Amino acid sequence: MDSSLTKIGIAHLLKFPGSFEGIEVHVQVAGKFIKLNYPNESFTDILKKLQAKGVEFAYVHQGDSEKIMEAVKSTLNSKFFYDPATTDEVRVQQTEGAANIAKDFIRNFGVDKASLDVLKVANEKTMTMIKEAPGLHAFVKRFRGQCSEEYLKSSLTNFLVAMVLEKFPWKSLQIIHKTMTAGMLCDVTLLPEDFEEVRNYEKGLGEISERVRQHPIEVSQMLRRKKELIPMETITIIEQHHERPDGKGFPVGITVSRFNQLSAIFIVSQRFIEKLFENKFDFTKRHEIIFALQSVYAGGFFDKAMDALISVVDE
Ligand SMILES: [Fe+2]
Repeated sequence: MDSSLTKIGIAHLLKFPGSFEGIEVHVQVAGKFIKLNYPNESFTDILKKLQAKGVEFAYVHQGDSEKIMEAVKSTLNSKFFYDPATTDEVRVQQTEGAANIAKDFIRNFGVDKASLDVLKVANEKTMTMIKEAPGLHAFVKRFRGQCSEEYLKSSLTNFLVAMVLEKFPWKSLQIIHKTMTAGMLCDVTLLPEDFEEVRNYEKGLGEISERVRQHPIEVSQMLRRKKELIPMETITIIEQHHERPDGKGFPVGITVSRFNQLSAIFIVSQRFIEKLFENKFDFTKRHEIIFALQSVYAGGFFDKAMDALISVVDE
């Protein structure tokens, strides 16, 4: 395969019909890459037909990524997105699609400003939708079948992170954004099937492959190459997001004195959401979950992070 081609889910691409006008789109059929030609039919129609035949991915050039990201961003900012006739289901599918296309580019070619912008806009839109929902539970119930569990989890983690940060007098919009960026990027090198492996490992139900174990470092190294785009605080959170204060986390097994306040806040918020999903999003279990978290996430900056989390959850 041409190394400048990157794989993008056709389902995601189809949510942004404007994004693939005037670019080259390739597909893989019977092991061969072919460039699509569209003499009579629209891109959308051809991709829909291919999708119906079981073709899941299209391939586009790195050189076209900026153009695609621009088109995706303008769809998210378009009148259509805000039109009262556009349902929230469509909105949430579009924000997830946008975030996934951006992550596909980042995974293949590293971060760049255009894909970060798309992630940021998608995150802002999703945060607004969660805020407008009559509660987190209502949001999850409504959108569960509409987008992937991972997208729901990372969005709810970011929403909770922002609420927990509000409890700290030194918070600022910039700090909230730096922490949310960690939430958007921390698992960018993982594939859909890897999440199950991480979950089982964290529940003590299975092993973890070396590649998956190293993902916090892999993402960190990728982001460090673009230091001008990603704040160091964001990178530190990503490196530490699976670590534990008792030294039993991964990939390094650091102990409590190595964490800072932002990492501790991000980690307890992410674990809380993870456990809430494990409990079928039954909010009445929140105290049990907090109790379980307190037995692991204690000491150093974790005490203040847990106090803030408790006050948010009890509100
Ligand atoms: Fe992760």
